[in-house]
Formats: sequence, C-alpha cells, structure tokens
Amino acid sequence: MEFILYEQKDEYAIITINREKALNALNSTVLEELDKTIDGVDLNVVRCLILTGAGQKSFVAGADIGEMSTLTKAEGEAFGKKGNDVFRKLETLPIPVIAAVNGFALGGGCELSMSCDIRICSENAVFGQPEVGLGITPGFGGTQRLARLVGAGMAKQMIYTARNIKADEAYRIGLVNAVYGAEKDAEGNVVKTSQEVLMAAAEKMAAGIAKNAPIAVRNCKKAINEGLDVTMDEAIVIEEKLFGDCFETEDQKYGMAFFLDKNKEKVKEPFRNC
Ligand code: CAA
Repeated sequence: MEFILYEQKDEYAIITINREKALNALNSTVLEELDKTIDGVDLNVVRCLILTGAGQKSFVAGADIGEMSTLTKAEGEAFGKKGNDVFRKLETLPIPVIAAVNGFALGGGCELSMSCDIRICSENAVFGQPEVGLGITPGFGGTQRLARLVGAGMAKQMIYTARNIKADEAYRIGLVNAVYGAEKDAEGNVVKTSQEVLMAAAEKMAAGIAKNAPIAVRNCKKAINEGLDVTMDEAIVIEEKLFGDCFETEDQKYGMAFFLDKNKEKVKEPFRNC
C-alpha cells in the first residue's frame, strides 16, 4: 500500500494514514487503500483497531482539495459516496475503533474521526469542518455525525462558521474523550511528545478492550449503534436480543463462573471469543 500502514499487535491493530507530505489528506487512492485495509483486518484475531495519521502534525487535513477542485456535480456526489462508504464500513465494523487524533482533523479528517467509536487526541489537535469556506458542504458524513455527537446547535455553529476548534474546546463539547499533553521531566524538557503519550494511551485502551469478552464487546457496539437510530421501544428490544445472544457462549460461562468461584488464588484466563 502506498498510503496506509497496518500493524497488528497481538489482539489489536493500528491503521496509519501515511501521506504526511499532504498532511494525510484523503485522495481517492487513500480511500481505496483504507477500504482494502479494513477488509483485510482478521476479525478472528483483532479485537480493537486504532486509527491515526503519520507524523506529528496531522491526523487527516481533509479530503484532497486538489482532486476535488475540478469535479463535476456527478463526480462530486460519487466522491462523497466513496468516502461515506468507507467511513460507514469503519463505523459498522464489528470491533471497536479508536481514533487517535494526533493533530489536524479537518473536514474529512474530522469526519473520519467521527466514524470511529472513540476519539482521543493530542494537545495540538485541531478539529473543524471548513468546507463552506471552500464552497462545499461537509461530504463524508459531517452534517450527520457531528450533530449526533455534539448536538445540532454546536454542529451548526461549527459547520456554518467553518471555525476550527482546539483540543480543549473539542473536549469541552464532547467531541473527544481525552486530551494528552507531552510528558516533561523536572526541568521541563519533553520526555515524550504529546503524540507519543496519545499513542501509548490509545494502545493501553485498545489492549484493555481486547481483554474483555469479544462477543460481548461486539454486541455492545452493535446495540449502541443500532439503538441510536430507532425509538427507545425498538432500541431496548435490540439490546435484549444482543444481551441474550451472549448467553451460552464459552466466554459468558467462563466470565460468570470466574466471578462466582471463591478461590482467591485463581488467575483469569483470556477470553476465547467463542
Ligand atoms: N488537500 C490537499 N492537500 C492538502 C490538504 C488537503 N485537504 N491539506 C493540506 N494539504 C497539503 C498542502 O497543500 C501542502 O502541500 P504542498 O507542500 O505541496 O504545498 C501540505 O499539505 C502542507 O500543508 P500547508 O503548507 O498548508 O501546511 P500549514 O501548516 O501551513 O497549514 C492546514 C495546515 C491549516 C491544515 C492547511 O493545510 C489547511 O488548511 N488545509 C486544508 C484543510 C481543509 O480545508 N480541509 C477540508 C477539506 S474539504 C473536505 O474534507 C470535504 C469533505 O468533507 C469530504
């Protein structure tokens, strides 16, 4: 792959958008390679994904403006569909995806992070939907997911004004769950950059998720995602079915038996995903 790096680490894996010279902007090739990479994730082994951008400066600085600049209406719509299809694949992937936002997350970059289950960022992260300043609307889900995440009022303000927000504001409005700063020694020298601290936190979180019962984690993702799209009466039925689905699995039997076993010397075995 030209623009995507994929690294599997035990039971989680890291996808890196690797087009640093263009601040990891999403052109058609990046989107196609991301699509193929997602298809290639071995869901029998990988229990959580981390998505990040190459370098210290940018997660993804948006869809590629050069490529978009000459598109016709029909081509624009097709380009939007191309991004939306990949992002939706990520959003509905059975396993959780953590966006580790290590800098600019603008336009398609903010949208990519919003198609992930969880967003955490470094202190230099900048979020925004600058599209109306370019004469277009957000096109990879921004008009839909931002409102669902931060509320319609704040989403409309961000989108209509095209104003970028820094990490602390993104945290305040609930767009990211945590912001990581650099680690410094007593003299104030940087020991670990904020991106390194961010990735360590993302990997710790991914490893923690991967330790939990995989069928249960997947069912939680499905229940939350599908439940948000329907009425509460329908949503609780979705939950009931997915809750029921966990019973009789080896992991449910083992997890509960482990709790009920009063032997204090016992050591918890890894869940077996069955
Ligand atoms: N598309 C194509 N190239 C991009 C890009 C993008 N979205 N963002 C950055 N680049 C390129 C720049 O053209 C530049 O390339 P050259 O070195 O060849 O000139 C390189 O990346 C470095 O960028 P800058 O020199 O601009 O870096 P900077 O530090 O001065 O500024 C920035 C950084 C503020 C992020 C600025 O690059 C910028 O504003 N980028 C565009 C952000 C944007 O508008 N994104 C939304 C795109 S529209 C969209 O995403 C639609 C959608 O919803 C699907």
